[in-house]
Amino acid sequence: MCGIIGYCGQKDAVPVVLEALKCLEYRGYDSAGVASLCDGQLLISKDAGKVEEVIEKHKLATLPGHVAIGHTRWATHGGVTQSNAHPHPDCTGRLAVVHNGIIENNQELRRELTEAGHRFASETDTEVIAHLLEDELKSGRSLEQAMLSIAPKLEGSYAFVAVSLDDPDKIVGTRKSNPLIVGLKDRDYYISSDALAFAQYTDEVMALEDNEVVVLTEGAIEFLDPEGNKVAKQSRTLDQSWAVSDKGAYQHFMLKEIMEQAQVLERIVDQDRQQFTQIALDILRARQVIITACGTSRYAALVGRYLFSRVGKKFCDVVMASEFGYFADSVDKNTVVIAVSQSGETADVVEGVKAARAVGAEVISIVNRPNSILTDLSHQVIYLNCGSEIAVAATKSFLSQLAIFYLLAFAMVNSFDEAAASLAGLGGQISKTLDWNKSELIKLSDRLKDKDDAYYIARGINFAIASEAALKLKEISYVHAEGMPAGELKHGTLALIEQGTPVVVICPDDYTFAETLSNAIETKSRGAYIVGVSDRESDVYDSWIRIPEVDELLYPMVAVVPLQLLAYYIAVNRGCDPDKPRNLAKSVTVK
Ligand code: AGP
Repeated sequence: MCGIIGYCGQKDAVPVVLEALKCLEYRGYDSAGVASLCDGQLLISKDAGKVEEVIEKHKLATLPGHVAIGHTRWATHGGVTQSNAHPHPDCTGRLAVVHNGIIENNQELRRELTEAGHRFASETDTEVIAHLLEDELKSGRSLEQAMLSIAPKLEGSYAFVAVSLDDPDKIVGTRKSNPLIVGLKDRDYYISSDALAFAQYTDEVMALEDNEVVVLTEGAIEFLDPEGNKVAKQSRTLDQSWAVSDKGAYQHFMLKEIMEQAQVLERIVDQDRQQFTQIALDILRARQVIITACGTSRYAALVGRYLFSRVGKKFCDVVMASEFGYFADSVDKNTVVIAVSQSGETADVVEGVKAARAVGAEVISIVNRPNSILTDLSHQVIYLNCGSEIAVAATKSFLSQLAIFYLLAFAMVNSFDEAAASLAGLGGQISKTLDWNKSELIKLSDRLKDKDDAYYIARGINFAIASEAALKLKEISYVHAEGMPAGELKHGTLALIEQGTPVVVICPDDYTFAETLSNAIETKSRGAYIVGVSDRESDVYDSWIRIPEVDELLYPMVAVVPLQLLAYYIAVNRGCDPDKPRNLAKSVTVK
């Protein structure tokens, strides 16, 4: 997590950095800060709070400077305080560092540096980098030589950039297993965790490989390998359609992203049929197939598992990426690992994929963000093509993942085109679902907003939608919610149902309807307030979210959309910011 930005060039640096920080806030929003070089001074200003709050409170826009770095934080080491906010200076206050990732051996390094006389001002792991660089600069090294020299001492994964008065007018950066990308235009240079941060200025980018160091000065850029040799690089053009991050007329990105799902479905079928056929064959031939992912992406994988079994008659398992390593013993070269991730940089997924590759497994990734760490690590990549998703809560990326699994499952039985045609027609059904339910969902959110708990149940292919809908509710509204297979309820959770407890029952008129409804009746007999999500009406529902009748394998896609919207309205009704839920960040780049 955490967002890094640096700029040097002809413009005033701080305004560029501040605009970039707003774009990077999805990566973390506990605290923010900037450091700029101006007339022989290093100016650092930082605080706890969201980017806009810190900018306002410290009048950051007035900071001068032609070279500046900035940071938006998601706390790992050390609380959310001003002193733990980045940038971090060294003892002399002559250099400053911003960092994303974790320095795993920071305790040991901190001890050594403290014994050598360094004074620490924060509890962060990042600060060791500042003090290590300080020692190197004192011995007469340039900032880039200093960075090359300290990198081997750092364990963990990181991306960091630094500026120094002892080697002014430049920004130096390096990375290991965390993203850092350079943008260039005329004599202006940008460096960031995400090209989105500078996309308004340039679409020309250069990638920084692991362990390389990049040196930016006004009008010049240089890449060095770990031995300090110059590396020649070609720039490439950023796909600007990706960079759109405007809320438009919507109050929140989450609402915009929910509402654009009908169009997303139309775009998603624009896939390479040949590639799907090849991947489908690889899946069918593999000794075993493991899908690995986290959070919402894992719930999409669970739907994928049903689709593979039901359509392709291929059993596969879904392993939570944070647990993947514990199953590594059974992964081999006859295993296909499918990694699913919107961001393509979730640390647990990346780690699992590296482990799988190390033993010769074939890795296929399903990702949204182009040129992510995961795409570089995979043998084959399927893109979601749903555009940038800014809200922390995944919505349109989830729907896109479901659509990709649907296409893959049908590619296994040589019916890719038929599946693509079904998906292309589904956009209209999704729009219809939103139109039918909007006012009912607003009313329902009012009724449910003060509840402490909510339960979501479903069966078969729809079960993962129960889990996903519960995740949506809890992550943005802080209401405790659980999703589970309807048949599991009576094995324990039923004990928690009381008078008025909301139970959302996803029971489309398919092979799961009758049994799921029986389970709903069991909860209703114990006082539950039943919200039915179905195309078939029933007296059992206290409230009905009507979905259209579609093919039974498409119900997850139409059922999830109104439940995303319900979670959104409940969050807003409770006064929560659905785009920036507390304690969370969009990209989870730490394990
Ligand atoms: C989704 O609403 C969550 N914010 C979260 O569970 C997310 O899906 C998870 O962190 C995985 O992210 P990824 O898809 O980028 O790998």
